[in-house]
Amino acid sequence: MSLNYYHILKRIREARKLVIRGITAAGSGHPGGSFSMAEIMGCVFFKFLRYDPKNPLWEDRDRLVLSKGHASPGLFSNLAVAGYFDKSEIETLRKFESRLQGHPDFKCPGVEFCGGSLGIGLSFSIGMALAARVDGKTHRIYTIIGDGESDEGQVWEAAMTASKYKLDNLTAFLDRNFIQQDDYTERVMPLDEELTGDDISEMWKNAARWKTGDKWRSFGWNVLEIDGHRIEQIIKAIRSVQQTKGTPSIVVARTIKGKGVEHMEDNPKWHGVAPNPKIAPIIDLELDCQFLIAPSIIAGDMTNLGNEVKRAAQGRADFIHLDVMDGLFVPNKTFDHNKIKELRPITSIPFDSHLMITDPVKHVRDYVEAGSDIITVHAEVCDESSFGEIHDILRTNEVSVGLAINPDTELPQWTDKFISDLDQLILMSVIPGKSGQKYIESSHEKTHRIVKLLTKQNFSGFIEADGGVDLSNVESCFLDGARVFVGGSAIIGQKDVRSTISEFRKKILHGRRKLLIQKAHSLGGTELVNKWIDLHEVGKKKSELLQIAKEAGFV
Ligand code: DX5
Ligand code: ZN
Repeated sequence: MSLNYYHILKRIREARKLVIRGITAAGSGHPGGSFSMAEIMGCVFFKFLRYDPKNPLWEDRDRLVLSKGHASPGLFSNLAVAGYFDKSEIETLRKFESRLQGHPDFKCPGVEFCGGSLGIGLSFSIGMALAARVDGKTHRIYTIIGDGESDEGQVWEAAMTASKYKLDNLTAFLDRNFIQQDDYTERVMPLDEELTGDDISEMWKNAARWKTGDKWRSFGWNVLEIDGHRIEQIIKAIRSVQQTKGTPSIVVARTIKGKGVEHMEDNPKWHGVAPNPKIAPIIDLELDCQFLIAPSIIAGDMTNLGNEVKRAAQGRADFIHLDVMDGLFVPNKTFDHNKIKELRPITSIPFDSHLMITDPVKHVRDYVEAGSDIITVHAEVCDESSFGEIHDILRTNEVSVGLAINPDTELPQWTDKFISDLDQLILMSVIPGKSGQKYIESSHEKTHRIVKLLTKQNFSGFIEADGGVDLSNVESCFLDGARVFVGGSAIIGQKDVRSTISEFRKKILHGRRKLLIQKAHSLGGTELVNKWIDLHEVGKKKSELLQIAKEAGFV
């Protein structure tokens, strides 16, 4: 089975937006800790957890315990997306008579534990795991604890107990965001090391200083350490835990408090504060503007594509873009599913397979079996029936569904019925067939026009700009509406992939900040622009935003 990548990514995005909607309506709540665990929640809920929203007490369901109960909006939003109750109910958060209170309780369907008083959820989870064993049941228990919560002694008593009873049906996640209620964890009660400076990022840079995992290993746990915002790493970790017998497992997920909203990220202030209702629509747009970088490996050494995949992975790519060419749909030939199968074990980063082949319906299963996470086929060689078959094969195998059109092709009418369920739409900005070509300028207007069309057709996927994208045009491609950016010669063709990807991200971020400032201005003029900019207290963001606002003439 593949990652079901976009299926999860889109639900995580929806859940984050519901968190903002609920907390803003309540005028109070905990966004920071809801967002640091957002990817963990999304992967558990939408890839692994077995449950039935119509039968919340199904006795064979898996259990998810939110021990850090103050992040209840992060739980409620996922329960809503999962179908336990209507999404609109999130606006009753913390109101009298509501099922959704500041901390979870059993009034709300899908809640397994009344969290809030910290330090207890792991013990409760152990009880559930022991009960499952006594009852001969095979369901799994997942529990999320906070790093600040680990100051509670009961957490460590529970750690000893789980190890004593060899509870391998229990998976704990440590939401390691380095911030607790009143300060950075490494200043209050270090799990790694005393934080001497003011810069929390120093805790990230040097993995040799990370001691949290050793604490749990010394208590007899199986420990996995991951980037808690990388879907592929979370999924890989949970799959590994499911194979681990005779010991409980903890996934130490290094996360960012407030992740997804720039001004909340790494800012202790957003532990428990609600956004200003005037600001909420700007945050909503920001959550819709997450972006991904997909290096295209055919721009590298075609005799050593394994090394090109490694370069992209070490460069912190979000996707690996694999250009399959059969010499028929395009004159060039690159590689087929056999090469993808060979490359698959190198990295868990999603494989974004772009099939420039004729008769894709005949071959698509080969690319599923080879390990593609996203498969995009060209509308020029499909019709409603063949693409419908491809769509069903991909959905059944949890592979994300992509459609591509060439620069001189418009979306055929038969695609209308698929648009609302499409995960990715590649708008080619070169004539397909090779990397290193120049971006076709008319693609900007075409993207703008198609984005407008798609909005009317409830498109909730991601537009991928593919062909001739580089540092000179990527910001414009973002402002056109693209959210995934393929870089062949502009990324893989460069010596230092990591710094090039970082430069791409900075350019796109500049475009997003410009878009958000424009949104602030449209909603509330200069006053709201200044309010928005003032929120960005951490690091140098404020001065960078002011510069953008000045360039745009808003301040
Ligand atoms: C072209 C491919 C593109 C190409 C991108 O047919 O679909 O993915 O490899 O390479 P650059 O970014 O160099 O155009
Ligand atoms: Zn491509």
